[in-house]
Amino acid sequence: MPNFFWSQLFITPPYPKGSYEGKTIVVTGSNTGLGKEAVRHYIRMGADRVIIAVRSLEKGYAAKADIEETTHCSPSIIQVWQLDMASYASVQSFAERANKELKRIDVFNANAGLARRYYSTAEDNETMVTVNFISTFLLAALVMPKLKETAARYNTRPTFCMTGSSAHRHTSFPQKTAPEGKLLETINDQTHMNEQYPVSKLLEILALRRFAELHPGNQYPVTVNIADPGLCHSELAREASSWSFWLFQKSSRSND
Ligand SMILES: NC(=O)c1ccc[n+]([C@@H]2O[C@H](COP(=O)([O-])OP(=O)(O)OC[C@H]3O[C@@H](n4cnc5c(N)ncnc54)[C@H](OP(=O)(O)O)[C@@H]3O)[C@@H](O)[C@H]2O)c1
Repeated sequence: MPNFFWSQLFITPPYPKGSYEGKTIVVTGSNTGLGKEAVRHYIRMGADRVIIAVRSLEKGYAAKADIEETTHCSPSIIQVWQLDMASYASVQSFAERANKELKRIDVFNANAGLARRYYSTAEDNETMVTVNFISTFLLAALVMPKLKETAARYNTRPTFCMTGSSAHRHTSFPQKTAPEGKLLETINDQTHMNEQYPVSKLLEILALRRFAELHPGNQYPVTVNIADPGLCHSELAREASSWSFWLFQKSSRSND
């Protein structure tokens, strides 16, 4: 907690600088919150093309209009594409379209995420686990060939970046003792629903660590990483922070 408060109160991230001229960028969950602000920065820094990947096209077009108004960019730069991370079919058809229609992908910001307090399922797993973890890695696997192709063809190093969360520390990962091959099944149990958002973000980290073991950065043409934004004002943050507060109280009590 001291580190959290220190970084929230006293550390200001550097203002993004640099040129994205000629680059094609995809940002998921970019109709609002962090994704939308990231798009604004990419446009400001000269990106050639930015795909706003959203589950509601209507919200996506509203975000495009807002970003165009504030950045005065040409309407041809931003495209709005449909993507619902709660559906594997939607993830697959989005990736297929990206691989077919985009000449290159320089940055893929897999930012879409969900924090909810009630239990629901999507694609046979708890929804946050599906959206924040499984679909994010499915997307990574499906678009990676395009990022590798971009690296080879344009002599560049693309990035696949997921939005993680320090909330991953706010769980003891009670399902870690799940029998071999039964991890998701165990996680789907509603008993630990209050830790599901942190668990979904922890799974991202564990899977990325394994990926890094298999594909060390110096032997792989694409940077694959997770960025933790800290606590930023958004709908999701309101949900997640009230949870984290609850979990913090719980862990303080159990430490006592
Ligand atoms: N804000 C923070 O303090 C904070 C801290 C740590 C990590 N994060 C992470 O940052 C990312 C962005 O969150 P945010 O704070 O900007 O929250 P937000 O404003 O609620 O944005 C979340 C975005 O994800 C989209 N999304 C949710 N479910 C989706 C689905 N099934 N398919 C496609 N898109 C979906 C949302 O679309 P709709 O508008 O249609 O719902 C929205 O565009 C998340 O991964 C979150 O876990 C945020």
